[in-house]
Amino acid sequence: MRIVILGSGRGSNAEAILEAQQAGRLGRAKVVQIFSDRADAQILTLGPRFGVPATFLDAAPFKTKLDGDGEQHYIAAILACRPDLIVLAGFMRVLKLPFLSRFEGRIINLHPSLLPSFPGLDAIGQAFRRGVKITGCTVHEVTLDVDGGPIIDQAAVRIDDDDTLESLAAKVHEAEHRLLPGVIARLSQERVP
Ligand code: GAR
Repeated sequence: MRIVILGSGRGSNAEAILEAQQAGRLGRAKVVQIFSDRADAQILTLGPRFGVPATFLDAAPFKTKLDGDGEQHYIAAILACRPDLIVLAGFMRVLKLPFLSRFEGRIINLHPSLLPSFPGLDAIGQAFRRGVKITGCTVHEVTLDVDGGPIIDQAAVRIDDDDTLESLAAKVHEAEHRLLPGVIARLSQERVP
């Protein structure tokens, strides 16, 4: 299973995927390319470390969505990778119909809350401020309904009384780093309906 990862930031989840691959815990999956829409994103530094091509791909002209020329660039570059699965690991752009229909059923996203609670930006902050006692993370299929596609798997995180936003974020990320590689491994072994 050939995987392309898209990310915009730190890349800690991409790192967890690549570490799982190195440790033989990614099933039949193999990361073949990382693309980032930000030239200065830390995720790009994973390329040389793990021997995977990691490339900045301009998504202009829009800032929060993948549309127009940027979308066409992404479609062409990803098609050239012949992916079986596209993993959004902190890719902070909304995907539109041309991209989604080109890769239908083959795009998954990681979101830092127990969807359908707290979709959108700053999901960890939303949960913290709302005062819920359980939050977590979700891997779901990407559809036109932003953060609303079919849920593949989730992990729960307890918010303790002495948690701060920072300590909660650390717990959610830790849960994400276990959840996402596990889902990819199971998808590669066709163990997910
Ligand atoms: C992760 O917490 C992921 O759930 C979130 O961005 C972070 C990326 O971290 N994604 C979203 O909020 C998508 N709406 P990373 O760059 O260290 O993997």
